[in-house]
Amino acid sequence: MAHGVNAAFLLLASSSPLLVLQLLLVSTSCALLLRSARGEDLLTNGFTAVELAEAQFKVQKPYDVPLTERYEFVDGVRRMWVYATDHPITTAHPGGPRTETKIELIYSSGVWQFEGYGYIPYGTSGASVMQIFGAAEHATTLMLHVYDGNLTYYHDDTRVVDAGVYDRWFRLNVVHDVAASNVTVFVDGEHRLTVPGRGGDSHYFKFGVYGQTKNGMSHLMESWWRDVKVFTKC
Ligand SMILES: *[C@@H]1O[C@H](CO)[C@@H](O)[C@H](O)[C@H]1NC(C)=O
Ligand SMILES: *[C@@H]1O[C@H](CO)[C@@H](O)[C@H](O)[C@H]1NC(C)=O
Repeated sequence: MAHGVNAAFLLLASSSPLLVLQLLLVSTSCALLLRSARGEDLLTNGFTAVELAEAQFKVQKPYDVPLTERYEFVDGVRRMWVYATDHPITTAHPGGPRTETKIELIYSSGVWQFEGYGYIPYGTSGASVMQIFGAAEHATTLMLHVYDGNLTYYHDDTRVVDAGVYDRWFRLNVVHDVAASNVTVFVDGEHRLTVPGRGGDSHYFKFGVYGQTKNGMSHLMESWWRDVKVFTKC
């Protein structure tokens, strides 16, 4: 690898300084992903924003309804909704009703952070609104559910991440340290939860609404998201 880069470097050194610079950047896998540091913010301090293309925001919705009947993206806000009676994302999928956005950025090591501003309209209950996909013996490493206005760690009503989440914008930050195997959740910049990781070596973030069978779903489940970003430390 180093040899190839050096050879190419020599080849290009005389022709274009810009090309050489690009080559040096892509030779570091991290630099390829990264845009700029955002040093001012304590939470994101030490993290670097990952450049995400719109094509990396992949919406999953009931297989038999058009996207526009479960999703809209207007003025920077992604609005997702689903009904308890909706079908899963494919005929073969065993899961419940969902309209979720998957961020197609798969990671297996390092420290990753999701940041987004969420809004859950009054009445939405029995839904996961954010998750870290991938784990060793489960499908997920983290799920944040909403039940009657409480945002909880999965369906554990003793681990309340926010006790009044309806009808307001909240800032959600979720940090996943893969090697240390811990997950930390912040709401509006305040530390609310640290839980162990659950293994696995292929993860990504999702947000939206995914109906949960444990405590019953409201007929309509809905969440809105804006300014969704992913940060990493390499
Ligand atoms: C919501 O959380 C608060 C604070 O933990 C708790 O007192 C309340 O019972 C919870 N409500 C529901 C519906 O679980
Ligand atoms: C996660 O684990 C690492 C390594 O043990 C530790 O440095 C870090 O403080 C932990 N994070 C939290 C939020 O507990």
